[in-house]
Amino acid sequence: MVQTITKAFIAKYGEQPAVFRSPGRVNIIGEHTDYNQGFVLPAAIDKNIYVAVSKRNDHTVNLHATDFEEDFSADIRVVGKSTVQWANYILGVVDQLQNAGCTLTGFNLLIDGDVPIGAGLSSSAAVECATAFALNELFDLGLDKIKMIHLAQKAEHVFAGVNCGIMDQFASMLGKKDHVIKLDCRSLEYEYIPFKMERYKILLLNTNVKHNLASSEYNIRRQQCEEGVAMIRNFHPAVDSLRDVTIDMLDKYVAAAQPLIFQRCKYVVEENQRLIDACEYLKEGKIKELGKKMFEAHEGLSKSYEVSCKELDFLVAYVKQIPAIAGARMMGGGFGGCTINLVEDTAIDQLIPAISKAYHEAMNLPLTAHIASIENGTGKCY
Ligand code: GLA
Repeated sequence: MVQTITKAFIAKYGEQPAVFRSPGRVNIIGEHTDYNQGFVLPAAIDKNIYVAVSKRNDHTVNLHATDFEEDFSADIRVVGKSTVQWANYILGVVDQLQNAGCTLTGFNLLIDGDVPIGAGLSSSAAVECATAFALNELFDLGLDKIKMIHLAQKAEHVFAGVNCGIMDQFASMLGKKDHVIKLDCRSLEYEYIPFKMERYKILLLNTNVKHNLASSEYNIRRQQCEEGVAMIRNFHPAVDSLRDVTIDMLDKYVAAAQPLIFQRCKYVVEENQRLIDACEYLKEGKIKELGKKMFEAHEGLSKSYEVSCKELDFLVAYVKQIPAIAGARMMGGGFGGCTINLVEDTAIDQLIPAISKAYHEAMNLPLTAHIASIENGTGKCY
């Protein structure tokens, strides 16, 4: 991939680029908790977005996306939101860097990668992180990874219009080979936990659907959680987010007045607890118990938080009865994308064709499977 992108860059811009990569991510458990100041348990995977760049000595920004075979140009002095969606993830980062006081000149950039788009593996965060890291190196901006994570997240808010939490950008930048990251999204303290489970593999099953509601419903969920917090804050002024909220508080101040808000908030409070339990199981090597938490998380995401869809529910229900699968659930924002499955490696060869066939018969859609390995976060290729 690095060679291909370098060749393509030379063919397009006639010079040698520097090449950087940033990975997609999985999340073992802890979904829709990040923007509620809770915990998440992500890891970077063996799928990357690659960005090749070189400096120009004028004010022109030239972008090329191999996937779409599309060019885009802008003037660095007047970078604004575009109608070209893929370009927005790059321009959004340029905009954030400039807002942060960084001085940039024009540059040439070519982007390629193998993180599937819309699969819930955070291809957008990978684009943002690869761009931030590449421009930081190219212009010698001296930003650390934490600063770049914040910039990348803000770029998503402003240029892509999704009020995302910090998980995706954090995992992409700071992933560590064979480890998951237990991240406290309130303090940003994090711990790398080894993810070595001899007989088990992480299997991603891509529904190959992304329903349109995804970004609008995401922002609505975020608002509903904030509404719940506001109701409780009337009685407990120190409460700042769902992280500070207990089920008792929800029962007392939200349940009767706002049943839907109650349902959403209760899911988040429970999901944080599930994650804490799951981490203990992981450390003790109790994979079946960890998997059970994943199934419970799916149930909550589907029935209470209502961010699943029939395709995701089908895949989780299918594997639930199979003893070789410790746990499974939908992953990421929801409304399509992948399920994450912890599967005994000896069962994988049989499972993939069987579930693909069943999925195709039920949904008339192809299923794509990928066995993910856990790799390092954002870095320079050369
Ligand atoms: C998307 C967002 C993340 C996170 C997940 C749900 O991936 O970008 O910040 O909220 O959804 O856990």
